[in-house]
Amino acid sequence: MRAVPRHLFVPEAPLEQAYGPESVVTFRDEDGIAISSASGPGVVAVMLEQLDVRPGDRVLEIGAGTGYNAACLAELTGPSGSVTTIDIGEEIVEGARRSLATAGYDRVRVVHGDGADGYAGDAPYDRIIVTAGAWDVPPAWREQLAPGGRLVVPLRIRGVTRAVGLELDGQVWRSVSIEECGFMPMRGPGAVEELNLELPPSRGVRIRVDDGKPVSVVALAAALDAPPALAWSGVVVPWKPMVHLDFWLAGAAAEVCRIIVLSQAREAGLVDPIYSWGSMGCYTPNTFSYLIRRPAAGKDGQEMVELGACAYGPDRDRLATEVAERIRSWGRARDALSGIRIEIHPAGSTDRPAMITADKRHSRVFVLTEST
Ligand SMILES: C[S@@+](CC[C@H](N)C(=O)[O-])C[C@H]1O[C@@H](n2cnc3c(N)ncnc32)[C@H](O)[C@@H]1O
Repeated sequence: MRAVPRHLFVPEAPLEQAYGPESVVTFRDEDGIAISSASGPGVVAVMLEQLDVRPGDRVLEIGAGTGYNAACLAELTGPSGSVTTIDIGEEIVEGARRSLATAGYDRVRVVHGDGADGYAGDAPYDRIIVTAGAWDVPPAWREQLAPGGRLVVPLRIRGVTRAVGLELDGQVWRSVSIEECGFMPMRGPGAVEELNLELPPSRGVRIRVDDGKPVSVVALAAALDAPPALAWSGVVVPWKPMVHLDFWLAGAAAEVCRIIVLSQAREAGLVDPIYSWGSMGCYTPNTFSYLIRRPAAGKDGQEMVELGACAYGPDRDRLATEVAERIRSWGRARDALSGIRIEIHPAGSTDRPAMITADKRHSRVFVLTEST
């Protein structure tokens, strides 16, 4: 990363931003939504570590973006390897080609196309890395990976995204590493988007649902008319990181979602969710609940919090109690969760006990703990 001049890949950004810790947005769609960026250097580094590129490797990147990560990959493969990177945006591809040429990485091949199909032209690959959020693992990635190869993909499972390092065992992908991350979603005909619903009339509360049951925004908005129920869990933890708490909640029986809370709603008196953007939560047809926190006595100077749940709607007492109980069970399982695994089987494979089973178009995804 020291070898690659990052500012040449984000020519519009001031130097402090180009070399800062955040991602740099480079393209937006007509609604102003970011569709391409240079990912933050932290997540770039973590995913390159996960990919474990060796000199001489043939690498495919899906999501060329600015071309920055492709340049890092070219440094890792060296001249005896090869890097192909693909992007669905034509202008994005042109920009990446220009920047890679300016920075002296002419060896990187930049292709325009849908990365869900991989790129058969340069296959097989020793390594495939996806730098946009995927909802599924399409068959092309398996078909184009060389024996003993590795895939790293930010995979969304019930609204929770993790960068997963995967290796193939026959038809089954098995995780070798799992890291927290956030990515803009893949686009294209095969892409599955999350629902992002505003509770009407605009009150600054949104509910984001992945592949859950239908949501009645009118009923959930009405839930905000009565005071909430709060249930504290008694689980006191250091304030961040919360080891896979979101994943644990995603395995709950109730439909899971993320509640996005804008400042307007906070100012109107909505109970603060745990994070500045909102929090993981769950919903029923007329009630929703999300995680909250309050300060607890510190330990060795460390900031501690107690976790709890807040619920709005006619079923609020039951839902808040249920989520608080789920937090307690996370508190008991927390140590074991660092050993979490993910397996991706072909769609329709036999069911098995798992923390989460998520059925996708091409695959059946299992999130497994040590006891499963
Ligand atoms: C976060 S950016 C990638 C960052 C990039 N690796 C870099 O170093 O700058 C995500 C990119 O994925 C691309 N993308 C989204 N869906 C895609 C698809 N189906 N196939 C290929 N690229 C896709 C977007 O156009 C966007 O440029």
